[in-house]
Amino acid sequence: MRILALETSCDETAVAVVEDGRRTLANIILTQNELHAQYGGVVPEAAARQHLGAINRCLDQALQQAGLSLENVDCFAATLGPGLIGSLLIGANAAKALSLVSGKPFRGVHHLYGHVCANYLDSDLKPPFLCLLVSGGHTQLIHVSDYDRMEILGETLDDAVGEAYDKTGRLLGAGFPGGPALDRLAQHGNSKAFNLPTARTQGPYDFSFSGLKTAMRRAYERACAEPAPSPTLQEDLAASFQHTVVETLFRKTLACAEARNLTTIAIAGGVSANQGLRQRFQAFASNHPDYRVCVPKMAYCTDNAAMIASSAFLIR
Ligand code: KG4
Ligand code: ZN
Repeated sequence: MRILALETSCDETAVAVVEDGRRTLANIILTQNELHAQYGGVVPEAAARQHLGAINRCLDQALQQAGLSLENVDCFAATLGPGLIGSLLIGANAAKALSLVSGKPFRGVHHLYGHVCANYLDSDLKPPFLCLLVSGGHTQLIHVSDYDRMEILGETLDDAVGEAYDKTGRLLGAGFPGGPALDRLAQHGNSKAFNLPTARTQGPYDFSFSGLKTAMRRAYERACAEPAPSPTLQEDLAASFQHTVVETLFRKTLACAEARNLTTIAIAGGVSANQGLRQRFQAFASNHPDYRVCVPKMAYCTDNAAMIASSAFLIR
């Protein structure tokens, strides 16, 4: 079954065609980074208008990339939430309109199910597994016992990890969006330069990043107030932040997998594009052949429509 999906929950206009939930035939992603960079964050009203102007073009490009016409599509899907309401409406209404005029079915998709399903694309992964979902709005450890059976075992008590990255990236003047910019800075810094706190949480698999965010602000302000701040201050702070975050995410994920007897671990969501996090999990997997670690392709980490098409097929 070929599903054409639209994803417009935030600031990416994305259209994809996926066959049987796993084989990607087209994956078009148009980012709005340039628009929102001037404000230092996503402006919801502007995002919705930009989606409206771009959606038809992205649709045409996706069909062209797949070498298909609308008649060859069996089903239409779109993200229904969570996300920015004005943005969601553009993709959802476009997909519903296509379904109405073609007489083919429409399937609505939960954005977070989509992120989990990013791991099924171009892969043979099957449940059960433990998924560490790390995005701009969520940080969760999810036991995926079957395609449509998921249990949240732990989650953030305050900031999502992507949000902490974005805010800290902005603090350091790393660029927009802050997450990937901070990741790039971290590659050139000394991760032991700053000793940052790790939050204790009551639930063993819960997370908290707001204290770390504040500690970063204090460390940065203190270092800037010194008579001669280090020329590698930004890089060292970024590397120390990244090290603290990655170790926390990795340790809790592993402890949770061990407790649940799960030997397959997947990561998902925008922050799964983080080089430090990917390397940490991949290094572990190469030293522990009894574990399988799945890391989505870069194109499937941040928001995309291929993962939505996969979810529309695999999760009913
Ligand atoms: O999944 P996503 O595209 O949208 C949401 O569902 O939230 O995730 C976006 C988040 C942003 O906070 C962004 O800064 C973060 O993922 N992100 C990264 C990296 N690439 C994207 N964070 C750290 N390192 C990266 N390389
Ligand atoms: Zn997302």
